[in-house]
Amino acid sequence: MITTNLSTQYVQAFIAPNAVQIELSNLDKAYHELISKTGKGNDFLGWLNLPEDIPLNLFADLNHTAKQLASFSEIIVVVGIGGSYLGARAVIEALQHPFKLLLPDEKKPFVLFAGNSMGEDYHKALIDVLNGKDYSVIVISKSGTTTEPAIAFRILKEHCEKKYGKKDAQQRIIAITDEKKGALNKLATEENYKTFIIPDDVGGRYSVLTPVGLLPIACAGFNIEKLVSGAKKMRKVLFQNSTLSNNIAMQYAFYRYLLYKAGKKIELVVAYEPQLFFFIEWYKQLFGESDGKDGKGIFPTGAIFSTDLHSLGQYIQEGERHLFETVLSVEKVASHLYIPFDSNDLDGLNYLKQKTIHEINLTAEEGTRLAHISGDVPNMRISIPEISEETLGELIFFFEFSCSISGYLLRINPFDQPGVEAYKSNMFRLLGKK
Ligand code: PA5
Repeated sequence: MITTNLSTQYVQAFIAPNAVQIELSNLDKAYHELISKTGKGNDFLGWLNLPEDIPLNLFADLNHTAKQLASFSEIIVVVGIGGSYLGARAVIEALQHPFKLLLPDEKKPFVLFAGNSMGEDYHKALIDVLNGKDYSVIVISKSGTTTEPAIAFRILKEHCEKKYGKKDAQQRIIAITDEKKGALNKLATEENYKTFIIPDDVGGRYSVLTPVGLLPIACAGFNIEKLVSGAKKMRKVLFQNSTLSNNIAMQYAFYRYLLYKAGKKIELVVAYEPQLFFFIEWYKQLFGESDGKDGKGIFPTGAIFSTDLHSLGQYIQEGERHLFETVLSVEKVASHLYIPFDSNDLDGLNYLKQKTIHEINLTAEEGTRLAHISGDVPNMRISIPEISEETLGELIFFFEFSCSISGYLLRINPFDQPGVEAYKSNMFRLLGKK
């Protein structure tokens, strides 16, 4: 049984009455191309079986390594970019205490990220912090040649070796990369680093359920077996149900596609829990890099409400009508913070007394949905009962599966990213790389 629900009730009015009937055979084709591994990019479908395929000894090795790193590290720096960091960060930030670093007796280590930008001040500030802390580094790159993480790693490697000496530094560095090729693979072999493999047939943005995501998540103290078990449950349901009426990933992909055909070119994924910010970043990469090809594709973006209702809200309500909204709704939260009664009621909030913030947040969600629908913004709602390893695992597989079907509906290859090369070749030329 999965716990994720999808509501498409507020989409129907925005699509032509016969659109479902006309496009249904395309959806059926897209689903079967994916399941039978006969569609474009089918050499990158390893993620499709990952939840079932992860061997028990890999879980044990990941948990053991995480424990070992934690035993001598206050900080673990995860070096990677794109799919080599977003999945881990999405899960960790969704589950972690938002002020973990400020809690006096919180369990160590704290996971930080580097190499996903070339902010010099950011990396210098990180080095300043690492001067006074014990730390380890997990360097992640499937190709092993991506410049941004390679630069960050070179700097961190040098720092680590100076601080701990070459031998100790070797125990503090873990590499996650391709089994055979790439500069990182070569370097890790030379330096004798412990290494985890990214399977050949799993692309970066589909790799969160490989060591790429699982090791950092385990290091942050979260249960990776539960994460994978959530994904496994979702996988089972999506494989067993092959029609629009009973498969929520098909529904999500299909209605996005029909909205796109009706002129809604932008999807705004919205959450009302700020700790889902990086989950939305992960979604943006997954869909943006998968579907944005051949002059086609929905532009994936996101927002945190109420925060962004006070920045983007005006545009969403009354700006150009080219967007639709997908709300990531969380039914229950872990804490209860009641609005206190105040005898003076100077702020006029006594009408809310004894309501929890979450109750009010859910009301804001409902009120916003109704306002946006009346402002001609179609709305879908994906709800989970709570934020946990299991529900995040369900969502990860749900989005990966939907994203692939979306790509096949658009008749593109959802598993490559040829457009990412354009900036790189310019940068290399300008830098004078041979
Ligand atoms: O999804 C992808 O394949 C990309 O976003 C990559 O993850 C990203 O470019 C990083 O690549 P690599 O892991 O090879 O350093």
